[in-house]
Formats: sequence, C-alpha cells, structure tokens
Amino acid sequence: MSTTLTVTDLTLTFPDGSDRITALDRVNLRVRGGQIAAITGPSGSGKSTLLAAVSTLLRPDSGRIELDTSSGTADLATLSRREAATLRRESIGIVFQQSNLVPALTAIEQLEAMVHLGQTWFVSPARRRETRTRARDLLDAVGLSGHEDKRPAQLSGGQRQRVNIARALMNEPSLLVIDEPTSALDQERGAAIITLIMNIVRDHRAATLLVTHDRAHLHRMDSVHHMVDGVLTPETTVVMS
Ligand SMILES: Nc1ncnc2c1ncn2[C@@H]1O[C@H](COP(=O)(O)OP(=O)(O)OP(=O)(O)O)[C@@H](O)[C@H]1O
Ligand SMILES: [Mg+2]
Repeated sequence: MSTTLTVTDLTLTFPDGSDRITALDRVNLRVRGGQIAAITGPSGSGKSTLLAAVSTLLRPDSGRIELDTSSGTADLATLSRREAATLRRESIGIVFQQSNLVPALTAIEQLEAMVHLGQTWFVSPARRRETRTRARDLLDAVGLSGHEDKRPAQLSGGQRQRVNIARALMNEPSLLVIDEPTSALDQERGAAIITLIMNIVRDHRAATLLVTHDRAHLHRMDSVHHMVDGVLTPETTVVMS
C-alpha cells in the first residue's frame, strides 16, 4: 500500500496573554505518496505551524493526522512523546525554514548522524560504509559533490539548505515536510531545488508538504492550498494517477 497523509479538522491554538491565537482552524488536507501539496499564504498565517503539527513537533488541540503506510496507520495527533520521536527518526523528513545544521559536523557527517543517532548498539563497519555511500549519493543529488567535508560555516546559505534537504531524505521518509526551501536562493537555484525535490519525492514515494512563497513553481505541484488566518483552502487539485 502506498503512503497517504490525511489531515482532518486540525485545530491548534497558542496562548496569547489571557486569550489564545488560533494558528490552525479546522484544517483538512490529503496527500498521497509521491505527491507534493504546496502551501502558500501570508506571513503569520499558520503554514509553519501546520508543518510542525504534521511532523509531531506540536500537539494540536483537536483533529486527526493520519499517516497510512505499508506498516499500518498511525494518528500523529495522539502519539506519546516517545512514539513521536521514534516516528520522526524513522519515517519523517523535516526541512525547517531556518537551517539547523550542527556547526561542528561536516556536510556528510550531518547526514550520517541521522542514521547513527538512532543506534544505541554497535554499528558494524558494513553498515557504516552503506550509510556513507548513501550520504555521498544524496549530497551528489543535491549538487554538493566536493563539499562533503565542509562545515556549515564554510557553506553558503543555499548550500546549507541543500544539505538540509539531503539530510531529511537520509532515512527514506514516508512523510516529508519542507518549509521555504527556495527563500535564500536565486531564481535559477530555486528552480533547481524544486526540480530536485520533485524527483526525489517521485522516486521515494514520500507524501510531501511544501511551504513556499514562490508562486513560480506552483504549477509544478500536485495540489496547491492557500492558508489565511489558519484556514486552509484548496486552490487547485491535480490528481496524478
Ligand atoms: N510558539 C508560538 N507561540 C505563540 N504563538 C505562535 C508560536 N508559533 C507561531 N505562533 C503564532 O501563530 C501564527 C502562525 O505562525 P506560523 O509560524 O505558522 O506562520 P507562517 O505562515 O509560517 O509565517 P511565515 O511565512 O512568516 O513563516 C502567528 O500568529 C504566530 O505569531
Ligand atoms: Mg513559517
């Protein structure tokens, strides 16, 4: 069975003095494996909050976030912290708006850490080699061959973003959430990153949520949704067979 993400009536509020801000207001959304749903909308409308809720980093007030994969169905809205941490490590690729690379690690080590972090037992040399090969291939896929041994401070903003994307793919996630991958890039590099993400999503069959301000790429997405004040409205839906 292929992956499907189904978000139903998702509501999330933040405390705001004596009141609360409604960051997500009964959001509904469905994304299948291999498809990208684009989320657009003004600053402060709730886009990053939606990604945080879908990736289990924020607990919603109500609603469901169902992830169907070949290993079963999970409601991401009600997992325990421990279950959520395991799911994030194994099945969710997250690319934040701000790059959050570890300053001391080289590009290739950022990717390898994704695999080795989850391992509490001895990692065999064969497994290490396999991990290194995959990390190298992914860095190559994002156009960073030759930069494997550089630390974040030695990379440009766009290069750091590409390391972020490669890292999110390290564990072959079923669910991929990407916040503003092209904001620090020029038109040409931005288009290249979108093409890269599309190819990777198709190859890995990840259900993908992509927040972007860049309308130039929206026609390439499987569906486009607009967020205003926490309310998500479909703009277009192109169902791919
Ligand atoms: N941790 C928080 N505590 C309180 N309010 C928050 C928190 N995070 C976000 N908000 C509020 O929730 C609303 C939605 O914020 P969010 O970050 O999701 O917007 P966004 O659409 O991603 O904006 P941008 O395009 O600027 O990144 C805003 O009003 C914001 O101030
Ligand atoms: Mg945001």
